[in-house]
Amino acid sequence: MSHRPFIVGNWKMNGLRSQLAEARAINRGAARHIGVRVAIAPPFTLIAAMAEDANAIAVGGQDCHMAQSGAFTGDVSAAMLKDVGATFVIVGHSERRALHCESDAIVKAKADAALAAGLDVIVCVGETEVQRDAGQAEAVVCAQLDASLPTEAGMAGHLTVAYEPVWAIGTGRVASPADVATMHAAIRARLDVHFADEGKQIRILYGGSVNAGNAVELLAVDEVGGALVGGASLTAESFLAIVAAAGPQDD
Ligand code: 13P
Repeated sequence: MSHRPFIVGNWKMNGLRSQLAEARAINRGAARHIGVRVAIAPPFTLIAAMAEDANAIAVGGQDCHMAQSGAFTGDVSAAMLKDVGATFVIVGHSERRALHCESDAIVKAKADAALAAGLDVIVCVGETEVQRDAGQAEAVVCAQLDASLPTEAGMAGHLTVAYEPVWAIGTGRVASPADVATMHAAIRARLDVHFADEGKQIRILYGGSVNAGNAVELLAVDEVGGALVGGASLTAESFLAIVAAAGPQDD
């Protein structure tokens, strides 16, 4: 199945209100690329304001709690994200898995909670350098998928998977197109097992040091349905160059 490429910016813990001007510029640029689906996941503090201004991009969260509400100091629920205008949330980013000790079971619970709240979900998976060097990249990623994908029937249309090799995140080291092809094929095979035909709707994004210089080559790889972009999503100039690599301008 062919899809509109999906280009998602993950702003991580970057962005003050002054950076909303960049998001507005990204929104204007995205409006000229209707063949590309564009989204930004800013920090929680900017979601409401960004969503209010956005009409050509989706705005989402970078994480959510698995409970709807309660005594969880500092956490934000999926319902709260939706309430301020988010339409999706990223779960299982490797920085959450590593720095906040999030297990596959926690990631799955968060994905389930987000879907139940009416959000689309991007589930992240990816191996470390040690795991890759040990020849375990496919096994690690497939095990992460098996244990962290939500399984409720009828939800595949709301799901995206992001393959982000940990060693490629923020390092300037990009996975080779051949490695990306191998990993995305393995992920597609797991999605077929989990979701059968319904899973064909699920895009698989590549993430890890994507920029305007490598985006064309990465997006041309089989089963790469878009990109999850960190550093290069922080300015309109660098992010829109990636959007342009994903699809032509309309006018
Ligand atoms: P970089 O694009 O900065 O490598 O980050 C990738 C990432 O982690 C996106 O979620």
